[in-house]
Amino acid sequence: MDSIVDLRSDTVTRPSAAMREAMATAVVGDDGFGEDPTVRALEARYAALVGKEAAIFVPSGVMANQIAIRVHTRPGDVVLAGRRAHVVLYEMGAAGRNASVQFATLDDSDGMLDAAEITAQRAGEAHHHAAASLLCMENSSMAAGGAIWTRDRLMAVADAATGLKIHLDGARLFNASVASGISPAELAAPADSVMSCLSKGLGAPVGSMLAGSAAFIAESGVERKRLGGAMRQAGILAAAGLIGLEQGIDRLAEDHRRATYLAEAIEAAWPTAGVSADATATNLVVAHLDNTDAVLAHLAAHGVLADTIAPRQLRFVTHLDVDDAGIERAVAAIETAPVRR
Ligand SMILES: Cc1ncc(COP(=O)(O)O)c(C=O)c1O
Repeated sequence: MDSIVDLRSDTVTRPSAAMREAMATAVVGDDGFGEDPTVRALEARYAALVGKEAAIFVPSGVMANQIAIRVHTRPGDVVLAGRRAHVVLYEMGAAGRNASVQFATLDDSDGMLDAAEITAQRAGEAHHHAAASLLCMENSSMAAGGAIWTRDRLMAVADAATGLKIHLDGARLFNASVASGISPAELAAPADSVMSCLSKGLGAPVGSMLAGSAAFIAESGVERKRLGGAMRQAGILAAAGLIGLEQGIDRLAEDHRRATYLAEAIEAAWPTAGVSADATATNLVVAHLDNTDAVLAHLAAHGVLADTIAPRQLRFVTHLDVDDAGIERAVAAIETAPVRR
């Protein structure tokens, strides 16, 4: 085991031996000509998993989101999204730069959106407000500590968004599926497009998937090229992604178990940090503290890394490169941290 317990993100995972073997032996071709059989296989596999006609392999989750926004909107459109959604806060203003859209942000404190707020927002169109054309959902919700959507809320929001396109940022859709017991296809059913990251809990080194109708994916191929994201012998990367989809999904339950255990320890050690083990659904735990810098320094001195996602918000992420012993080390460091709240 590494001497550092790295809980900053599930993106720090390194490819397994099986992935490296598959990468080394992958059959490849020029994906710019649509000739890479391993990329084709990955795209077909993901499309089937999320119940969409077609899919496209892209370098990152941000690019998948950006392509979807560009295809679904026209410059000047309003995009409805959660106040703390990745597309709103964590993509460096890319949607404004790449698609010339503006966001109308909605309450997402529990990770979900509210149907009544969407209906109220859309009512403005009858009163000279710019019209929305797209709604972005995020499941699981990163900023809400990996919270997942309930089936009821999903249906109510989809209903309130009738007439709009819906894009699902499912960077961690498989975590949401494993935690809820609802299939990825059912979670993605209300959405016109869905993206998922291969490079997070599934353990692949690079890449994300975007799926939707065949026409949407054909347009996405053009936008991927415009953004400089078309790749060549990308089967080398797709081979690892296929292993992630085959072997990585069920394993996510282990990350969730460890996150709940970590949340229990944080709840006990830092009772005012707003962490609830009962509410920890997937692999993220977000603690609210006044002195995050001091706590990060204390944890680092004990060989434990975490990160901030907002002022006074400390995030821990469990993943396949952190085992039970690593979590115990993190708990020991948490218990002695000089927390102020
Ligand atoms: C919810 C969510 N969406 C999108 C992304 C972007 O993924 P990537 O880092 O592959 O661009 C992330 C990554 O952290 C995320 O958490």
